[in-house]
Amino acid sequence: MLSFQSLTVAYTGSPVIDELNLDIQDGAVVALLGANGAGKSTLLRTASGLLAPRAGRVQLDGQDLTSVAVENRVRLGLAQVPEGRSVVTELSVDENLHLGGLWRYRDRSDRNAAVDQMYEMFEPLWRRRMSLGHELSGGERQMLSLARALISEPRVLLLDEPSLGLAPRVVAQLMTLLRETADRTGLTVLLAEQNVTSALSIADRGVVLGLGEIVVDAPAADLAADPALRQAYLGF
Ligand SMILES: Nc1ncnc2c1ncn2[C@@H]1O[C@H](COP(=O)(O)OP(=O)(O)OP(=O)(O)O)[C@@H](O)[C@H]1O
Ligand SMILES: [Mg+2]
Repeated sequence: MLSFQSLTVAYTGSPVIDELNLDIQDGAVVALLGANGAGKSTLLRTASGLLAPRAGRVQLDGQDLTSVAVENRVRLGLAQVPEGRSVVTELSVDENLHLGGLWRYRDRSDRNAAVDQMYEMFEPLWRRRMSLGHELSGGERQMLSLARALISEPRVLLLDEPSLGLAPRVVAQLMTLLRETADRTGLTVLLAEQNVTSALSIADRGVVLGLGEIVVDAPAADLAADPALRQAYLGF
């Protein structure tokens, strides 16, 4: 279980996240919602270790991650797909995937098998496997970012606005794929999204941030179906 306890995060002045408590069960897909500047990215960056909290803790299975460096959190199974992609633009799709699997699979044939599995999941990447990162479309790049994170078989995936800049059809494909992966592998997903409808369509639970606090925490289906809740907290 991923757990945030009395978490307070600040950049310079007053806290952006203020004494936040949140437990995320294994295998759950949680949509992290809220207006621009609500603190979604900040929470994800604190979970992955890019930001240190001012107070409070992030725990994974009861282990305090506070003093665990980013790369060691990755080894513990925490993978982040940052806003704005993680593709190496000078490398091919295939090289990017092998790089993503490097530390996880020492054995080359194991790594090849893992890369092949990613091509099975992401058909368009197979067709573009020799293309360089900078030659990919936004959607293809987003798929590659996701595949690079998934190839290391993380337990928890932290995703920051994967739908950004993508066509609705591509967003739908990505979301379906995330849900299927979570169902098949027990992957836990914390999904920050402005695309509320898409995120709630695959999430188990919706958590709305406002002014550094959780203002709503409800089953995704309830949140999607309740016009009053949607109006009050999500603006539609
Ligand atoms: N590097 C930074 N330095 C100082 N303040 C920052 C920094 N990054 C974010 N902030 C501030 O922290 C607050 C939360 O920002 P954050 O990026 O976490 O919001 P968000 O919910 O991800 O918003 P969006 O939906 O626009 O991505 C905002 O007020 C923002 O201005
Ligand atoms: Mg953000």
